[in-house]
Amino acid sequence: MNIRSSTQTSLTLSCDLLAVGVPEDGLDAALASLEDAFGGTLATTLGNDEFTGKSGQAASYPTFGRIDAPRLLLVGTGKGDALGIQAAAGQAGSHARKSGAETVGLALGALDSVQTQRAVEAFAVGNYRFDKYKAETDRKPRTAELVFVGDADAGVYSRATAVAQGQELARNLVNEPAAAIYPETLAEVARGLAGGGLTVEVWDHEKIEAEGMGGITAVGQGSDQKPRFIHMHYKPEGTPRKKIALVGKGVTFDAGGYSLKPSASMQTMRCDMAGSAAVIGTMRAIRDLSPDVEVHGIVGAVENLISGGAYKLGDVLSMHNGKTVEIHNTDAEGRLVLADCLSYASKLDVDAIVDLATLTGACVVALGDHYVGMFTKDDDLAGALSGGATSAGEQIWRMPLPDAYKELLKADWGTIKNVGSRAGGAITAALFLSEFVDGPTWAHLDIAGPAFLEKGHKHIASGGTGTMVPTLSRWITS
Ligand code: BES
Ligand code: MN
Ligand code: ZN
Repeated sequence: MNIRSSTQTSLTLSCDLLAVGVPEDGLDAALASLEDAFGGTLATTLGNDEFTGKSGQAASYPTFGRIDAPRLLLVGTGKGDALGIQAAAGQAGSHARKSGAETVGLALGALDSVQTQRAVEAFAVGNYRFDKYKAETDRKPRTAELVFVGDADAGVYSRATAVAQGQELARNLVNEPAAAIYPETLAEVARGLAGGGLTVEVWDHEKIEAEGMGGITAVGQGSDQKPRFIHMHYKPEGTPRKKIALVGKGVTFDAGGYSLKPSASMQTMRCDMAGSAAVIGTMRAIRDLSPDVEVHGIVGAVENLISGGAYKLGDVLSMHNGKTVEIHNTDAEGRLVLADCLSYASKLDVDAIVDLATLTGACVVALGDHYVGMFTKDDDLAGALSGGATSAGEQIWRMPLPDAYKELLKADWGTIKNVGSRAGGAITAALFLSEFVDGPTWAHLDIAGPAFLEKGHKHIASGGTGTMVPTLSRWITS
């Protein structure tokens, strides 16, 4: 999507759709010039349609030549605050896609650069549909040109574009069926991003095993699609201001293994690589944003299936950091994959590690699909990640990480077992991970709820969301 500014009055913008944001308590002022063009009929029509500018409201009209755009969309911005603007921009994007508007004028009033970036990103989020497998007749083109009414500088648009493209990549990777995205093809996508300070190294299953990654090896051994370990590395030109590692769970399909999932729970388990999609999407954005920060993107990519070679209950795995794990449930596989990745990341010279994973159903039960669960003992890191989320308009909720629950992971035969009790399942999963971090400060983001929506949210289509790409991009560059 090409984006440019226009300080021209929106009435003379030539575009397929003119979208205008209207606040609840400034409806008349926001519509004054349009009202002139429509000869005073707009207010009455809006009144009839019960449009008051509330967030979530939208009204679309043909313009019969009264203004240059053939179609007008009014979207409520509610109180006109950051959330209202974001939702309105997202709605405009969604409406544009549904109606096939290829050039869109977007007028949201006077915005600062932070709000503008967020609005452009929200428009892109709303404009997204995963329809590549749909019939031609069921597809609508995405918006090719966005004309933003305002005077933001081009830097804002290029930052928003970098984030939006990273998020879109993450959504596509999640939405693609497991037949298309499996460990090697995921690695192929990562390799394709190399350049601009970003290098990519991929290990095959033999190297993974030789490096002592018993978790990735075991989870991956039930599938004909062998595991891959992906290490992306962005290095700035000068001395980095900080050094960060992102770690993503890349289970390209989670059947549960011998602790087999029921069919209904398995239906959407192509989404189980959403953590890795967030990492790969963020690395793409970081490459384009080129901050003076060193960033590692680490992904353990596996399929968790059943076969004669699959790992079993009661197996004891030797992990990358030398600890052993007793298997009590083969469906608690993500933590085994992440454990090896976290141990590897701990040996890099980094200040902080953040992992992302669709780790537990328990986190979905606790927080639903609007909130990412954050687990960390580091208040500063928690604050910084939350700050990134606030500025991005994403939602993170901090969860406890009490040592007392480590009791639940005590093993009979190994150092630790891979599941605790049903109670506090998201917490014991996070505590399990903590056993494999050594050195850098660390936060775990359980994205199991927001990563994949069975039913879309407002302007966000169902399926993969690319959650946390905007948050991480802001946290890293701030
Ligand atoms: N991939 C699942 C978690 C998940 C559930 C993600 C729902 C997205 C939506 C994970 O590998 C899993 O199966 N976790 C188990 C852990 C249990 C066996 C301790 C779970 O949550 O049931
Ligand atoms: Mn599982
Ligand atoms: Zn899983």
